[in-house]
Amino acid sequence: MQAALLIILTLAFASSNAAASVKPLAQPLKAAVPVKAAAAPPPPPPPQDEVFFGQCSRNKSWVVFRDYCYLYVENRDYWYTANEYCKRQGGYLASITDKAENIFVSKLTYCESVWTGRYAVDVDKLREPDNYRWSDGQTSNSSYHAHNFSRIIGYHQPLISLEDRFWYNNLYHAKQKFVCKVPNLGSGTPAPTPCPTNWKYLNGYCFFMPKFAATYIEADFYCNGRGAHVASLHNDLEVRALILLDLSTDECPVDVWTGLLKLNPCRIDYSTGASVCYRWSDRSGDYRGFPAWQTDNPNNDLVTNCVALNGRKIKSARCHERLRFACKKKA
Ligand SMILES: *[C@@H]1O[C@H](CO)[C@@H](O)[C@H](O)[C@H]1NC(C)=O
Ligand SMILES: *[C@@H]1O[C@H](CO)[C@@H](O)[C@H](O)[C@H]1NC(C)=O
Ligand SMILES: *[C@@H]1O[C@H](CO)[C@@H](O)[C@H](O)[C@H]1NC(C)=O
Repeated sequence: MQAALLIILTLAFASSNAAASVKPLAQPLKAAVPVKAAAAPPPPPPPQDEVFFGQCSRNKSWVVFRDYCYLYVENRDYWYTANEYCKRQGGYLASITDKAENIFVSKLTYCESVWTGRYAVDVDKLREPDNYRWSDGQTSNSSYHAHNFSRIIGYHQPLISLEDRFWYNNLYHAKQKFVCKVPNLGSGTPAPTPCPTNWKYLNGYCFFMPKFAATYIEADFYCNGRGAHVASLHNDLEVRALILLDLSTDECPVDVWTGLLKLNPCRIDYSTGASVCYRWSDRSGDYRGFPAWQTDNPNNDLVTNCVALNGRKIKSARCHERLRFACKKKA
């Protein structure tokens, strides 16, 4: 056993030496690239870290990221049956090959605990990173992995779930939510939408998230200047869109302004007799209980008058805080 290890180490050493001795060649090769590029300008690089809604070869529940469609399945299941479900969809449990995809899947799942397609080949070697594979056969060998070995207790935990961006070993008999990943059989290029450049189309609306944080007043001003409003949220797809519009922040979950404004004082809805205390700034109506408030919210004092989305729930926030935000307008 030790001898075998020695041989492997020797081989690794030998191959790294070989790589070093090859290095000088890299210069001339690199120099050759621009010449080629001048003859035929390369196409612009494909959008790397952005998502598309409703542009998968599937239904609207699927989200496009790079060349794949992803579905967050919230019915808890065993790893094996979850993978079978994904196979029936034409794919596998999601593999995660780099940091951007890791953040994408984390945000798609609201940072909750979900099965990924990763599993250990040998249950006796759970602490060895090389012992793991993706069920879709993905072998991309980037150095990226987010495996956190801190929760391994026994050999019966060979299956990996993702939780708040980290991969944890989990049990054969655990039931979890999961993510399927299937090749996008669509055209490959994003379908044209009625939205301005860089705005994302979803269900009749265009969304845009600038890459900076702002107070609510600034956010409102910014959106108004573009014929839009700070995003209102009327269904799960819009909530998820707001979370996924920007994948550059390695934070999960992140606070984002909603266009919900407090009425001081509340008014009575005469048709229902209900007390109405919030309305959407884009005049899409009063707040009717969606999205749900986090526990201990809303804050009913007189100064905490704005509302942020965190995960899939909302919470009160002071309007002068600086948060990310998205603008929304009719397509
Ligand atoms: C979309 O497709 C998935 C499976 O492909 C299915 O489970 C889901 O119910 C569908 N959603 C809608 C809104 O049709
Ligand atoms: C991935 O890289 C590791 C170390 O760099 C190496 O031991 C392993 O064989 C590689 N795996 C594949 C599939 O290329
Ligand atoms: C691994 O997870 C544990 C508990 O979830 C956490 O305390 C620890 O900081 C994590 N380690 C790394 C390297 O992220």
